Amino acid sequence: MSGAPTPELRDLVRYAKQARRRAVAPFSRFKVGAALLTRAGEIVTGCNIENASYGLTLCAERTAVFKAISEGLRRFHAIAVVADSERVAAPCGPCRQILWEFCGDIWVHMENLQGVRNTLRMSELLPLPFDRRSL
Ligand code: THU
Repeated sequence: MSGAPTPELRDLVRYAKQARRRAVAPFSRFKVGAALLTRAGEIVTGCNIENASYGLTLCAERTAVFKAISEGLRRFHAIAVVADSERVAAPCGPCRQILWEFCGDIWVHMENLQGVRNTLRMSELLPLPFDRRSL
C-alpha cells in the first residue's frame, strides 16, 4: 500500500483516533488508539489500558485483537494505529506476535496526529515469525 491512503484507510484512522481518546494512560501519558478492519468490513477499536502494576498494561493493538476474537471475528484485512509521537508508533514486540498469530499478514497503518504515516505488512514488521508452523 503506497501513495495516498485509500478512503477505507482514512476511515480506519478516524476510528483509531476516536479510540485513542478513550486510552487509560495515567502513568505513561502516552495514548494509543487502534482500529482493526475485518475482511467483511467490520471495525473493532482498541486503546491502551494501563494499571498500577505497570506490567499488566494492555496495548491498543492487543485490546482490539482480543475484542475482535472474543466477538467471533477471525478474518482481518488491516489495522490502523494512532499515537501522538514525533515518529509513527510501530506495534511493540508482543503486539507483533499477537497480530501475526491472530490476524496474519495484514496491512499495518501507523499514523501520528500530524499526519506522518507509514503502511507496512505484518510480514515486514515480523519477517521471521514464530508461530504454530514452528511447533
Ligand atoms: N503502547 C501501545 O498501546 N501500543 C504500542 O504499539 C506501543 C505502546 C502503549 C503501552 C503503554 O500504555 C504506552 O503505550 C507507553 O508504552
